[in-house]
Amino acid sequence: MTSAALESFLAELERLRDAAAASLAAAVDAAAVEQARIEFVGARSGRLKAVQKMLGGIAAADKPEAGKRFNDVKAAIAELFAAAQDRTAAAADAPGAVIDVTLPGVTVPLGHLHPVTQTIRRVQEIMAGLGFESVDGPEVEDPWHNFEALAISPEHPARDPLDNFYLAVARAADPLLLRSQTSTVQIRVMESRRPPLRIVSLGRVYRPDTADATHYPMFHQVEGLLVEPGTTMAHLKSVLRLFASSFLRGDVRVRFRPSFFPFTEPSVEVDMEWGGRWVEMGGAGMVDPAVLEAVGYDPAAVSGFAFGLGVERIAARRHGVDDIRDFYRNDVRFLRQF
Ligand code: DAH
Repeated sequence: MTSAALESFLAELERLRDAAAASLAAAVDAAAVEQARIEFVGARSGRLKAVQKMLGGIAAADKPEAGKRFNDVKAAIAELFAAAQDRTAAAADAPGAVIDVTLPGVTVPLGHLHPVTQTIRRVQEIMAGLGFESVDGPEVEDPWHNFEALAISPEHPARDPLDNFYLAVARAADPLLLRSQTSTVQIRVMESRRPPLRIVSLGRVYRPDTADATHYPMFHQVEGLLVEPGTTMAHLKSVLRLFASSFLRGDVRVRFRPSFFPFTEPSVEVDMEWGGRWVEMGGAGMVDPAVLEAVGYDPAAVSGFAFGLGVERIAARRHGVDDIRDFYRNDVRFLRQF
């Protein structure tokens, strides 16, 4: 026969085991398991400890039975803890546990090409449609390609050492400079190929200009060159007009004004009509026979035209930008508009 004290002790043990099992089953993370651990098996005021104290009131004859049952429940609760700890640790590692799919997503900001790069690509596209292949040339040049082959004589003001960026690392006998114009690429292409030729080259050029709304020490040019038998100024004007109409959209008129460039004869300034005004976009002309000869072409057999336009200038016109420095400030509020 079991005594009343033993009965209530065993009932209390049952309750304790059930409560611990329920509590651990409900624990969703390590913190909740720890909370339950303190409540049930905490060394100072855990509920198991309180039940253990009841052992003192049990009759000596019932003690072995009570002690055994107490140890069974204690072991069962320890097992439940171990299982709960494993479960919550595994859940913390699972990706589903840390990603709340109901939260709004984080938008990754998408960039886009710089307006100057966009302009370069658009020009290449339009000129490709007219049969012009896009080629590259070096930004570090020798005086032959930057000046001599383009018939820019040693006395020409453009040759002033202070008007150019010479490289200090180059040997005095073999000077090198940052190219001041993309016309250098005309020479590089003609030196390595035979006519007929239709090329464009777009890239950076450098001049020691003070930066203002229309100048910058580094800017970009579009160089165009066509060499074929029978080329005339009429072809030049048609190509520029087709280009202007495509790039600026609409039927854009082109005007030539007499000018001088050492490597073209005759030479012209190119204006495009824009918003009811004539805007200067660059220079052009028929390739000077002296230049054709310098690269080994026969001026009696072929003729050509060349043109050079400012990339920032045409981009500014197209987008209504009135200060080219905005292209280089890297202010995203400006760049975002393109
Ligand atoms: N290279 C000239 C400059 O930078 C622009 C130019 C003029 C290019 C006439 C040409 C040309 O190809 O034919 O001022």
